Amino acid sequence: MYAVTAATGQLGRLVLDRLKGDVVAVARDTSRVSEGVEARHGDYDDPMSLRAAFAGVDRLLLISSPELDAARRVAHHRNVLDAAVAAGVTAIVYTSFLDADTVATGMTEAHHATEQAIFVSGLAHTILRNPFYGDAFLPQVVDGVIRGSTGGRGLNTAFRTDLAQAAANALTGPDHLGRAYDLTGPLWTHPQVAEALGLSYEEVPDAAPGAMAWLNGLVRAGAMERQTPDLESLLGRPAETVAERLREVVRATRQA
Ligand SMILES: NC(=O)c1ccc[n+]([C@@H]2O[C@H](COP(=O)([O-])OP(=O)(O)OC[C@H]3O[C@@H](n4cnc5c(N)ncnc54)[C@H](OP(=O)(O)O)[C@@H]3O)[C@@H](O)[C@H]2O)c1
Repeated sequence: MYAVTAATGQLGRLVLDRLKGDVVAVARDTSRVSEGVEARHGDYDDPMSLRAAFAGVDRLLLISSPELDAARRVAHHRNVLDAAVAAGVTAIVYTSFLDADTVATGMTEAHHATEQAIFVSGLAHTILRNPFYGDAFLPQVVDGVIRGSTGGRGLNTAFRTDLAQAAANALTGPDHLGRAYDLTGPLWTHPQVAEALGLSYEEVPDAAPGAMAWLNGLVRAGAMERQTPDLESLLGRPAETVAERLREVVRATRQA
């Protein structure tokens, strides 16, 4: 039997959509789990709930906690690992983040500590080091213009839909135990995407407010240009590109 934690989240829902058969959705609020799936209560802050939720589960997908405080986030993940061991789960797949194997501070602090905890847990494991979600970086088109502050440098984002399919494949496929995958989406730049869609591109100063603005500096420094074959290999097909997704969005907007 498979189980997926954080099953009410955006990634969790997409993974569940892609799993067939014997699967349990573990969530804080089971009333929000889609109909037709067995839902069990499991809260990262409540070890006993997790242990009960994992009864009879062989393979578990641990979707990382959204907690921002690293110590609390690691505590959430440790609660899951301890409960999985106690419940007799045999294998775990964990949604980590790119570079968490080598960088133990900042954005990857909790992921690094969690990977280390998984390695000593005794659980068979697969690590999925996700990139930034492309969903959050999808360029906006205003009056036929894409504006950005990325200096034309590349981004290796991937969409949740593809990362969910990769997670489902890793959870259910035969050859993934003991492996870590560094998942990167097809490299794209704002000017290239604009050109592909017949739009113009305008580089603007990095003063625009917005949740993602702080990441522009990272992009301009080339920190998001790493490419690996792992996502395409796990999917068994190319990942969706930003140009493809944006073309669909523009088409749908025109039709509306
Ligand atoms: N790669 C990236 O760019 C990126 C960006 C943001 C986040 N992330 C990470 O990826 C994870 C999945 O992404 P997402 O888009 O699915 O996030 P999301 O939509 O915000 O979903 C977060 C999930 O975590 C659950 N959760 C929160 N606190 C919990 C607790 N104490 N016990 C059990 N479940 C709890 C939420 O449950 P409720 O529905 O009950 O709130 C929800 O199901 C995030 O949690 C975060 O660790 C990655």
